[in-house]
Amino acid sequence: MNSSFTLVLPFLLPFINGQVPHWGACPEPSVQPAFSLKQFVGRWFEIAKLPAQFEKGRCIETNFTLKTDNSFRVVSSEIEKGELRKIEGIGVTVDPKNPGKLGITYSYVLPYSPYWILSTDYVNTAVVYSCTDILRLFHVDFAWILSRTRRLPTSAIEKAKETFTNNSIDVSRMTASRQQGCDRFLMKK
Ligand SMILES: *[C@@H]1O[C@H](CO)[C@@H](O)[C@H](O)[C@H]1NC(C)=O
Ligand SMILES: *[C@@H]1O[C@H](CO)[C@@H](O)[C@H](O)[C@H]1NC(C)=O
Repeated sequence: MNSSFTLVLPFLLPFINGQVPHWGACPEPSVQPAFSLKQFVGRWFEIAKLPAQFEKGRCIETNFTLKTDNSFRVVSSEIEKGELRKIEGIGVTVDPKNPGKLGITYSYVLPYSPYWILSTDYVNTAVVYSCTDILRLFHVDFAWILSRTRRLPTSAIEKAKETFTNNSIDVSRMTASRQQGCDRFLMKK
């Protein structure tokens, strides 16, 4: 097995998840200026995501907690088929000079995936993007609109989408995440 094949292996995962590769290298979006990890941590709800995932888990949320000044714990949860499921990961500030560019991994055997905060006001919304080049020939990407509450006004969603499109990121296939009936479900537990 040659080394370039080994390199590609971890990136097969997105394809299994129904990811669509795009030709060319990743776009290079601008990130939140003077990003503050301290202000960003806490609880965020997923409002919309790319790629589209139909009939998957609902009530998806992520709880970020600081470990050190530049690393954090990530606990994501969702309700799937009536069960609350959790996945835990570790995040880091990849480059202190570019604090909006975070990296997250959910497994010790996988490298950090990019987790770039394109824009956030810390108290309402966050616009997050992840993109991985594959041999500079094509790329796979993920995008999320996060909110501190389970609902976000349409105007805020439109503004978040504009942040992506202004950075040459196509979010026309973004789908809304289901956040209905969540608190009722969780209270029963
Ligand atoms: C987030 O994680 C922290 C630290 O583990 C915990 O104290 C807090 O209760 C969690 N919040 C939610 C909403 O899960
Ligand atoms: C997107 O770009 C347009 C044109 O430059 C600008 O008016 C608008 O404010 C930008 N939107 C966001 C959310 O940055």
